[in-house]
Amino acid sequence: MNGQPLQWLRERTSEDIKCQHALIALERLPRHVAIIMDGNGRWATARNLPRISGHREGIESVRDIVKASAELGIQYLTLYAFSTENWKRPEAEVHALMRLLEYYLRSELDELDRNNVRINAIGKIVALPKRVQHILLRAIERTATNTGLMLTLALSYSGRWDILHAVQMIALDVRRGKLSPEDISEELFRTYLSTSQIPEPDLLIRTSGELRVSNFLLWEIAYTEIYSTETLWPDFRRQDLYRALIEYARRERRFGMTAEQVGAMNRAATYTAAIKQFLDTFAQRHKR
Ligand code: FPP
Repeated sequence: MNGQPLQWLRERTSEDIKCQHALIALERLPRHVAIIMDGNGRWATARNLPRISGHREGIESVRDIVKASAELGIQYLTLYAFSTENWKRPEAEVHALMRLLEYYLRSELDELDRNNVRINAIGKIVALPKRVQHILLRAIERTATNTGLMLTLALSYSGRWDILHAVQMIALDVRRGKLSPEDISEELFRTYLSTSQIPEPDLLIRTSGELRVSNFLLWEIAYTEIYSTETLWPDFRRQDLYRALIEYARRERRFGMTAEQVGAMNRAATYTAAIKQFLDTFAQRHKR
């Protein structure tokens, strides 16, 4: 199978196809997008709903962003779904989040698989409820040979946890005589992280206007472009992703220029109008 999410590609509207072609033609799409999905609680509170309703609606955003990323040919999408710190939330909310995660994996697995998505997880997976571990491992195994989008869910994850875990593993290997301290380089260190199979993110998106990294991918984001939007996660849909991608394409232009990059700048100027038009039409039709 090639890397394309065939079923999803067929379901796109003509406007969306136009917009995606324009984005692809920019030749500046990130290979790896990481997202801190924030603002679910505020979304619900603003509607006098329980916080869990925000998480539930957040799943609709996850669905749309996964689809749009796969359709665009983005290779890696990493979602911060549950941090190490999130265990401190009220028990009922933690329980509800775990149920939602289980529901998402159960209800989406067939479709994700059909669309060539490969599921992956980072974090302290053994800390998750057994039912979640079970469905997660099943999803990982079932999609292991898929060659399209790699969807990584960060679960019971924090950047410091991952770094400490790597240090412990390295220390063990030094004690066993498999490594000597002089062997420890950046490249070697990276291979001990849970993200060792994934390239570093090119773009980190954070929703809900916060300007924090919140213990996400601390080692990996050293050179990552950060994009923050006021939009709350349950409202964040493909048109918002497209905005972030346009901003990313523009920002790249600020880096030290080469002749090829100038070419990309010209393409950006040509195609941004098509994407803008799509976003306007889309926003009109999906007024919140
Ligand atoms: C942050 O919003 C969001 C989370 C802690 C959980 C994100 C989870 C989902 C979107 C659903 C499950 C995920 C997947 C991948 C199926 P918040 O509650 O901190 O919002 P607030 O800052 O407004 O309170």
